[in-house]
Amino acid sequence: LRTADGGLGVGNRAKVNRVRVDAPPWRSWRTKSRAARAIRFVETFCRIPSGANAGSLLKLAPYQREGLERVLADGNRIAGWQIPRGNAKSTLWAAVGLWAVSDPPDAPQVPLVAFNSIQAQRTLFRPMRAMVEASAELSDRLVLYMGSNDRRIWSPWNNGELLPLAADVERLQGLNPTVALIDETQTVSPEVYAAILQGAGKRPESLVLAIGTPAPGADASALFALREAAGSGASVAWVEFAAPAGCAVDDREAWRTANPAIGAGILHDDVLAAELAIVSEAEFRCYRLGQWVAATVASWLPQGAWDACETVPAPDEGAEVTVALAGTWGTSQAIVGATPDGAVFLAWGAETATDDELAEVVAAAMERWDVTRVVFPPQTRTRLFERLDEGGVPVEIWDHKLDATSAAEWRRAIIEGRFAHDHDPMLAAHVAATVAKSTPDGGLRLVAGDGPADACRAARLAWWSATAQTEAFAAIY
Ligand SMILES: Nc1ncnc2c1ncn2[C@@H]1O[C@H](COP(=O)(O)OP(=O)(O)OP(=O)(O)O)[C@@H](O)[C@H]1O
Ligand SMILES: [Mg+2]
Repeated sequence: LRTADGGLGVGNRAKVNRVRVDAPPWRSWRTKSRAARAIRFVETFCRIPSGANAGSLLKLAPYQREGLERVLADGNRIAGWQIPRGNAKSTLWAAVGLWAVSDPPDAPQVPLVAFNSIQAQRTLFRPMRAMVEASAELSDRLVLYMGSNDRRIWSPWNNGELLPLAADVERLQGLNPTVALIDETQTVSPEVYAAILQGAGKRPESLVLAIGTPAPGADASALFALREAAGSGASVAWVEFAAPAGCAVDDREAWRTANPAIGAGILHDDVLAAELAIVSEAEFRCYRLGQWVAATVASWLPQGAWDACETVPAPDEGAEVTVALAGTWGTSQAIVGATPDGAVFLAWGAETATDDELAEVVAAAMERWDVTRVVFPPQTRTRLFERLDEGGVPVEIWDHKLDATSAAEWRRAIIEGRFAHDHDPMLAAHVAATVAKSTPDGGLRLVAGDGPADACRAARLAWWSATAQTEAFAAIY
């Protein structure tokens, strides 16, 4: 028997000595095509690594079998597979990897790539290990290297090697893979992907297999690039599962179309229903419906919506107004007013201001208008707040629990044309510099993107506080 090299520990060496190096049973299979051999191998030797049916043989669902037939078709050099979360991507790729290192006779090399090497180990190598350990035939034929710096699988009979790799361009260019497996391809950069292709180009029979799920903001990823290439007629085999464009987000038929694992009994639609309640629609459409929805971290208003609002100038002297202040040291300071019907105007703005300057601005505003409240964000200018409070100014602290609701409601009012402002250029610039992030609970959070955005924040606080919604919504949220 051949033995492994010096990288093994003593305990492992004993195991190596038991590994067989003679021709394995699949060597005598008459099955010819790459896809048919892989499918047969997977269903004969690979066991479900985790979950409810862990330990039983992996019976491929029709979508898994048909997908493999497409991506492994003879002659393919590059194949991509887009499918939502939880549709057994990693499990399938792990099983395919074990076939790829075990079957071809001529020293196959099988790199595993994901966002980084830790991810490749977690999503692919770990289930592979479970599959090898659960199978007497595979344990007889494959050596698992489990060193902290040396994780790989060696197939002695054909000198096959499988190893999780860092997403490192130089290292990947130096490879000579037979089958390169990429998981979570939406997290892999086009540069890393190009390096894998470059390595793969050295063997006439090599195949790059990439699987992944659309994600908000992943339109700069290898998965998106592959999809574009396939769509524009490049020789990329492409399999895609997605809900029909424009479907309702809660359309369960559409869920089943996008998620064949539901029909196969691998995934339950309760999981999707629970998730729909807590993530943003954009995230759900990407992760669970396979739809390439524009990034959630993006402009928070449709193009032109702010400019299209009705123009209402700052109110006359003596009018009732709410003002809100926002600003951080070193970015900008703004005081924005709102009339009782919600028309917003910039009362004052500057790059920086001392407490004294701000106190003067507030005093001037109180002289000019009937200021019913001065709203401060929490933990902002606390000394100024106390000073104004003691001086009889009607100061209030903003309840940050209202952030998501006020952002969503304000956005809606702007888009639906129920909002007016003075079209001040500084306010417009701060609105344009504001970006939206979806919160884990599906809400909208407005934050500064490029450049100061404090006037936008003050405007939201003033608008919300001035209009009657405050108490009604506070009762709900
Ligand atoms: N053919 C099958 N029959 C039954 N169960 C299966 C089958 N294939 C996979 N499974 C199980 O279904 C689950 C799928 O999980 P897996 O991690 O492979 O999905 P995934 O698409 O990679 O998920 P994620 O998007 O979160 O990365 C695992 O628990 C796996 O063991
Ligand atoms: Mg996975």
